[in-house]
Amino acid sequence: MTTKTVAELLSEDITLQDVSVKGWVRTFRANRFIALNDGSTINNIQCVVDFENFEENLLKRITTGAAVYVTGELVESQGKGQSVEIQVKELEILGDSDPETYPIQPKKHSFEFLRENAHLRTRTNTFSAVMRLRSSLSFAIHKYFTENGFYNMHTPIITGSDAEGAGEMFRVSTLDAKNPPLTDDGDVNYKEDFFGKETNLTVSGQLEAETYALSLGKVYTFGPTFRAENSNTSRHLAEFWMIEPEVAFMDLAGNMDLAENFLKSVLSYTLEHNKEDLEFLDERLRKEEEKLPQAERSPMNLIDKIRFVVDNNFKRVSYTEAIDILRNSKPNKKKKFNYLIEEWGADLQSEHERFLVEKHFKCPVILFDYPANIKAFYMRLNDDGKTVRAMDVLFPGVGEMVGGSQREERLGVLQEKMKALDIPEEELWWYLELRKYGTAVHSGFGLGFERLVMFATGMSNIRDVIPYPRTPQNAEF
Ligand code: 4AD
Ligand code: MG
Repeated sequence: MTTKTVAELLSEDITLQDVSVKGWVRTFRANRFIALNDGSTINNIQCVVDFENFEENLLKRITTGAAVYVTGELVESQGKGQSVEIQVKELEILGDSDPETYPIQPKKHSFEFLRENAHLRTRTNTFSAVMRLRSSLSFAIHKYFTENGFYNMHTPIITGSDAEGAGEMFRVSTLDAKNPPLTDDGDVNYKEDFFGKETNLTVSGQLEAETYALSLGKVYTFGPTFRAENSNTSRHLAEFWMIEPEVAFMDLAGNMDLAENFLKSVLSYTLEHNKEDLEFLDERLRKEEEKLPQAERSPMNLIDKIRFVVDNNFKRVSYTEAIDILRNSKPNKKKKFNYLIEEWGADLQSEHERFLVEKHFKCPVILFDYPANIKAFYMRLNDDGKTVRAMDVLFPGVGEMVGGSQREERLGVLQEKMKALDIPEEELWWYLELRKYGTAVHSGFGLGFERLVMFATGMSNIRDVIPYPRTPQNAEF
């Protein structure tokens, strides 16, 4: 007899047959009903044990968290709450669990407690649903790009250039930290380090992706990125996964179309393929929100929120328009923002982004044409000489979901910009050569994968949508 997953048993029409299944005991009620889960679905299968047929010693070992192997007849359930159940004929304990110390008791645990037990937290409904959705979104992303003619590219994780300036970096070194070799000037001599130069973990695969876009046409990377900022917010990780498409002959308008189409496509994939998990998370969020005062509750539940994004156009607004809206907004006039918007040129904080998305437009917003001096060196300068062809996609609850731009393809303009910012040409000689040999308009963006998972699951802390979060002072597991 082949062993089936719980998902298979619950979905197939195979009653009145003997089946086997392996999983972990969620609960064992009345010395009779095992709720068994194997991770294949949010649902448990009920296994009915006739205690007269089993040794007392065996029954005692059916505890929450134990791994068991069950064989029996799959029958229509007598009880409420499930369509089928297994009348257990044979039961083997594969792995005992100590009910006294098992952290995941069948009760509600705080997310903080579960973060400390992240190795076991996917034994809960919430975290198993979140991680199944994460996996599904990852698949949907690869599917979208593959079906749209993109090549997947693996950009390096260790980088020798610090030029992008997207964030503080983590040094990669094999030098003896206590006793590094020094130069005559007393600085650490990285010539003696593993790579013969200073190296770091990458903050983005963009610059390398640009090189491939200008030969393969349409490429994307989906890899880990690292930022050593000391930010302890619910939306920042020191290690996170980023999706970065890069496309030749595409301008900023095309970039916005791509970002919008892509986000809608992957979200609608989960609506179609992750129904049960989404329904569970939707209900979880609804119960959470019931505890909040009416004014703080969101007007839509999770599934409606996702559907709203899939079905409606994102609002496209220039930075200049956004500044006008913000300057005249109530929280600005009443000095409710922590950072008041006084003049054009101000960098937008997440409080401003969230105001635009959640209060003003009430839909995802794409802001574009930002002031050059608050954005990266590689963004294409507009004819006004003061704004660049940048775009950020802002989402309710999450804030900045995507950051991207049309890239500066003109050699001279790029060189001038680098000079002004003290970025040495030697470091990016290869990047500059792209502008020498067959340069072309091109664009791309970066999507923070965990921010997408947050939106799709309704989880409010980014630490709860990645298996093992890395944040300042925390690299457990
Ligand atoms: O806006 P960012 O810094 O853009 C870049 O790195 C570009 N090189 C992307 C490109 O054009 N190819 O980062 C892109 C996205 C952000 O919009 C955000 O969603 C996410 O990455 N992100 C983070 N997510 C989690 N933790 C952090 N510390 C993040 N920093 C950025
Ligand atoms: Mg950004």
